[in-house]
Amino acid sequence: MNEKVSVLVTGANGQLGLTLKSKQKELKNTDFHFYDSKELDITKKGRLTQIVRESNFDYCINCAAYTNVEEAEKFPEQAYAVNVKGVENLIEAFIGTETILIHISTDYVFDGQKGTPYLENDLASPINIYGKSKLKGELVIQEHLERFFIIRTSWLYSKFGNNFLKTVLFNLINGKSMKISSMEKGAPTSCNSLSEFILFLINKKINEFGLYQFTARGQTNWCEYAKYIREIIMKASISSGDINCIEHFKTIAKRPKNSVLDISKARNLYPKINYWEEDVESVVQVLIQNHLK
Ligand SMILES: NC(=O)c1ccc[n+]([C@@H]2O[C@H](COP(=O)([O-])OP(=O)(O)OC[C@H]3O[C@@H](n4cnc5c(N)ncnc54)[C@H](OP(=O)(O)O)[C@@H]3O)[C@@H](O)[C@H]2O)c1
Repeated sequence: MNEKVSVLVTGANGQLGLTLKSKQKELKNTDFHFYDSKELDITKKGRLTQIVRESNFDYCINCAAYTNVEEAEKFPEQAYAVNVKGVENLIEAFIGTETILIHISTDYVFDGQKGTPYLENDLASPINIYGKSKLKGELVIQEHLERFFIIRTSWLYSKFGNNFLKTVLFNLINGKSMKISSMEKGAPTSCNSLSEFILFLINKKINEFGLYQFTARGQTNWCEYAKYIREIIMKASISSGDINCIEHFKTIAKRPKNSVLDISKARNLYPKINYWEEDVESVVQVLIQNHLK
């Protein structure tokens, strides 16, 4: 009855993986097994099968992904290898076990043409390679597994790794001004909040499996988001570069103009979801404090 819950985490050195690692103590009676890409490359079926056979995992949180949206346009086969073949390997390794897969997907599965927030069952029609590979990953899970959570999220940031929030913050603090696009709408989402939702699913043994969308509440665009980071810097009496909004920022990959996700389904299970501003402020404050030390 009181047996420990065992959780495998892939892609443990990414920003979501590292956030989960920093929060693992919050779940009592749970053993986490973190594997980074060197210890466990999900495109290598043999090693994956070996790890899965050696332990009896109750959950696998798949944080491993090819996430570079720009590079994916140049190296689609690499994006598909991790985001599709890697996921297929996980499915094969878990078939016949009781392991519940918690897989992370993206707002970029949508084309951005809708005027209002996207629902889980709206037609997904990605416009870049990253989004196409992530959608294919979702579809293979839905086709082959019954016990899974696919969690679509957006605009992730944390104090770990590389992300937009950190790039903007450190450029501004170093006195650099930036031109940022105001054309795309979405919701910046803290890896902390997403991790808490994932831990909630495990802790409460939620068994309403399926596809969920989880982001912070509210919406913004990249430029307003950057301006908000600047406001926090200014409030801390630190001098800052400027932010200038522009309509077109040249990128290789197309990006959806609207990728706001409707999160009602997740909120019905888990009402405590913060507005994006609150979560951004907490992470910026931590990074500023670390910077001033
Ligand atoms: N970042 C975002 O804005 C965003 C938005 C929506 C959804 N998501 C999704 O959220 C999840 C977590 O993203 P994140 O921001 O934490 O990404 P991240 O920081 O880029 O981390 C991804 C991790 O996956 C690892 N990885 C890559 N290929 C692998 C392989 N073949 N086997 C095992 N590990 C591999 C990477 O290892 P290396 O460091 O060795 O490459 C990296 O540590 C992903 O599924 C992503 O698609 C992200």
